[in-house]
Amino acid sequence: MDKKVFTDISYGMYIVSCKDEKNCGCVINTLIQLTNENPIISICLNKKNYTNSIIKKTKKFAVSILSENIDPNIISKFGFQSSNDIDKFDDIFYEEKEGVPILKDSICGYLICEVINIIDVESHDLFIARVIDTEKTNDLKPMTYNYYHEVLKGKAPKKAPTYIEEKSEEDSWVCDICGYVHKGNLPDDFKCPICGADLSHFKKK
Ligand SMILES: Cc1cc2nc3c(=O)[nH]c(=O)nc-3n(C[C@H](O)[C@H](O)[C@H](O)COP(=O)(O)O)c2cc1C
Repeated sequence: MDKKVFTDISYGMYIVSCKDEKNCGCVINTLIQLTNENPIISICLNKKNYTNSIIKKTKKFAVSILSENIDPNIISKFGFQSSNDIDKFDDIFYEEKEGVPILKDSICGYLICEVINIIDVESHDLFIARVIDTEKTNDLKPMTYNYYHEVLKGKAPKKAPTYIEEKSEEDSWVCDICGYVHKGNLPDDFKCPICGADLSHFKKK
């Protein structure tokens, strides 16, 4: 199987958020609008993600639609670290709607959703949810998964459904903060294009 073909499938970029004892959430690209009347959407979450366990319990989540203006550090925090270990909302501008947090800055809008079905898809769960409220907050350009890869040179971590293992003859260096992989030589003034970390955070793969 040539998994490269999967890179031609198009997606958007989102932060799914929820609340139990604390606010939590993660980056996803796997959102699909399924129906229009009484709109229903689906999202796919790895069973090992903290966000999955909370949404299973509370049956409620928000989706913040990320724009191209979003700070890459927010993607790095929500996409490569776990709410098991940190409070992802500690330094983020957010507001609470219907009991769940949504990002305030650099999003195009948000959806508030209630889970109506959960389908087991082996490593992941597919959450089917009814959209109970929405707001289009501004006209910023929504970020696509392709933009994240091509312009920000971003990667997907192992727990993302679209993760692709990289094989290369060249030296590869991994950022220990956000997981970004740089191939080839690292100049002294190198900074991670995703989270801004300096050379000391890059370890040989
Ligand atoms: C670009 C990108 C796309 C991602 N898409 C998904 C996704 O669709 N589903 C998923 O479960 N994880 C996805 N992830 C991975 C989660 O965001 C990541 O595992 C996160 O650290 C989980 O945090 P949590 O443990 O606090 O829930 C994606 C990450 C990135 C950077």
